[in-house]
Amino acid sequence: MDKFRIRGGRALRGTVAISGAKNSALPAMAAALLTAEKVTLHNIPKVRDLITMSKLLAFMDAKVSVTEIPSSDYVIEALTLNHAEAPYELVKTMRASILTLGPLMARAGIARVSLPGGCAIGARPVDLHLTALEQMGAKITTSHGYIEAKAPGGRLKGAHIRFEKITVTGTENILMAATLAEGETILENCAREPEVTDLVHLLKKMGASIEGEGTSTLRIQGADKLRGAEHSVIPDRIEAGTFLIAGAITQGDLTIMHCQPKHLCSLLAKLKQVGVQIDVVDDSTIRVHNGVDLTAADVTTEEYPGFPTDMQAQYMALVTQAQGVSAVTETIFENRFLHASELMRMGANIGIEDHRALVHGPTKLSGTTVQASDLRASAGLVLAALVAQGETIIERVYHIDRGYQDIVEKLSALGADIERVHAPSV
Ligand code: EPZ
Repeated sequence: MDKFRIRGGRALRGTVAISGAKNSALPAMAAALLTAEKVTLHNIPKVRDLITMSKLLAFMDAKVSVTEIPSSDYVIEALTLNHAEAPYELVKTMRASILTLGPLMARAGIARVSLPGGCAIGARPVDLHLTALEQMGAKITTSHGYIEAKAPGGRLKGAHIRFEKITVTGTENILMAATLAEGETILENCAREPEVTDLVHLLKKMGASIEGEGTSTLRIQGADKLRGAEHSVIPDRIEAGTFLIAGAITQGDLTIMHCQPKHLCSLLAKLKQVGVQIDVVDDSTIRVHNGVDLTAADVTTEEYPGFPTDMQAQYMALVTQAQGVSAVTETIFENRFLHASELMRMGANIGIEDHRALVHGPTKLSGTTVQASDLRASAGLVLAALVAQGETIIERVYHIDRGYQDIVEKLSALGADIERVHAPSV
């Protein structure tokens, strides 16, 4: 199992290009199941979750071909859907496999999808996905760890649905299901994340009739069938945010290209409040510099356009270097402070009360061996290691490979002393 070895203390300098968004590419690939025609996707990040999704689609008889140079382009053709099943073996490695449930129900009227189970950051149930599908007429049972779903008459019916809680993949799943349902579907209290809007753009290119993207209410007119399309997914705002903090925490000077500043407003505002100098150079470039004399600032994670929970761990690492006490409140997931105890092993001074962490700073971090527990926690530990004295070993970095393309290469090119150590699995 690979590890990262990082020696801290170097200011990062230079330019880094952001890859496509994992959380946009995943639903886009699932959406290809909605048509028998070719769907071509550009700017797909080279991360493990996308490989898992392509294995899943192939398991369902879809043809998936990938061209790697220069970025990943996927051509997906789900001519037939004879195998409307997502097996546990694949789903257990990637919860987002649940995103195939809506398209399978819409296109095949039947689906057998393994329940994703919990993960390090929380129980993460999918009850809201299932309740909404039942409102569209689906008959759903769960047994032996699987969701068995069937649409009477082979077709879902449009419905007026209000999500009890804002859910990103729940919105995406039901949105896709509604594109081939009979009649109109109205979805209320939807997620407004840019990745949801990006999915709407793809579905519209496939011939779907959708209104309200970017708002909390979506209105979808079901179609008899959808066509193929070509689409380039948006840049990864969480990868961009991670590099913004890498520039700030190392007191470096970075130019972040191929990103979308308009998707990062809450983070940029918070970094300015902490005292980081941020220049939005143009609509795809941000410069971050002068991360000295940082001042503590509280943050509360929220649904978009609020402060993203997927940036919480990285932000916590940053404010260990800020003057004063920052209260970091996590409202989306019930168990998303696992990185805090690892940061404390590096010398951070953090007190946890329920969903709130009080980060006292500035503290001198020192290198040691730490464990990555999930994708974003690993990113937070990498950032802390970049400023820690001496050497840090981060174990179980397979977590980070799920969602960051070439992070070691990108950081090294900016001057970081980082290497991947291939260690045999015990
Ligand atoms: C998406 O997960 C992202 N994943 C997550 O990114 C991200 O953290 C999350 O949205 C929040 O922004 C993808 O897009 C693939 P939710 P998702 O449904 O859709 C509860 C990363 O690091 N809930 O919006 O699974 C749930 O438990 C990942 O890239 C229910 O109770 O998150 C949570 O508390 C991590 N019942 C809250 O809602 C449901 O049926 C929000 O979860 C669904 C959700």
